[in-house]
Amino acid sequence: MHFSKSLSVVSAVLASAVVAVPAQSGIFKRNFGGIQITNCDLSKSQLPHRGENPKIADPSSDLKLSRVVLGRGTQNYTCKAGSSDKPTAAGAIAILYDASCPASYQPALLHELPGAFLQVDSSTEYLAAAILQTMSSEHVVAGHHYFSGPTTPVFDFRVKDGDKDIFCGKKTSNVSAPGDSVKGKNNQGDGAVDWLKLDSVDGTSGFKEAYRVVTAGGSPPPTCKDKPASFEVDYTAEYWFYN
Ligand SMILES: *[C@@H]1O[C@H](CO)[C@@H](O)[C@H](O)[C@H]1NC(C)=O
Ligand SMILES: *[C@@H]1O[C@H](CO)[C@@H](O)[C@H](O)[C@H]1NC(C)=O
Repeated sequence: MHFSKSLSVVSAVLASAVVAVPAQSGIFKRNFGGIQITNCDLSKSQLPHRGENPKIADPSSDLKLSRVVLGRGTQNYTCKAGSSDKPTAAGAIAILYDASCPASYQPALLHELPGAFLQVDSSTEYLAAAILQTMSSEHVVAGHHYFSGPTTPVFDFRVKDGDKDIFCGKKTSNVSAPGDSVKGKNNQGDGAVDWLKLDSVDGTSGFKEAYRVVTAGGSPPPTCKDKPASFEVDYTAEYWFYN
């Protein structure tokens, strides 16, 4: 989360998932030189909350955490020519990386990853993930995030054969990101996007609620001054899914 620390964890980012797994029973382990990098047990993982008010609403009490992923991509915005209005949100796209292992065993490291990931060039990050995925034959890339309509974010996990999970959401609660969130690349930029709670809508399979937390970057400038008709702002975030 803190920028100075985030640079030092960059080298650990993709390997981040490569955490030593304590011997535990009941976990289906896949091996990457004896190290599990995806599909870790989430039963003890805790959704990060701001330590101050307002807070985002809790997950409904009957729900269980089912996935934790890191999203890396862009928030898109539009502007009217010559206008000095606020840019209008126009969806987002992101690649979703399995983050269940840091969420399970190294939550402090997990929360450094959005800020760290934002510093890494996205093609480099994608290449590293592809290599890791090839070496381990695991699905480091868990899914894709896009919008199916102006206000309908979709998290599509059907990249894996037989996986039917897809979340289509609507925002039900939001708070501004904490003040020490990474604002953008090199900590320059217009700030981290809000933390959100999303409820599922039609089209969803396998989920009920989702959260966007520990955001880095993604906010537009305050006005459209000197901005093109459409533009993108890099962002990263943790996404937590409940079912
Ligand atoms: C966001 O911008 C990217 C890159 O230009 C584009 O591929 C994508 O379709 C845009 N997404 C939305 C929802 O507008
Ligand atoms: C929630 O989002 C709306 C729309 O972007 C914004 O106006 C409002 O200030 C946000 N609420 C909080 C508590 O940050």
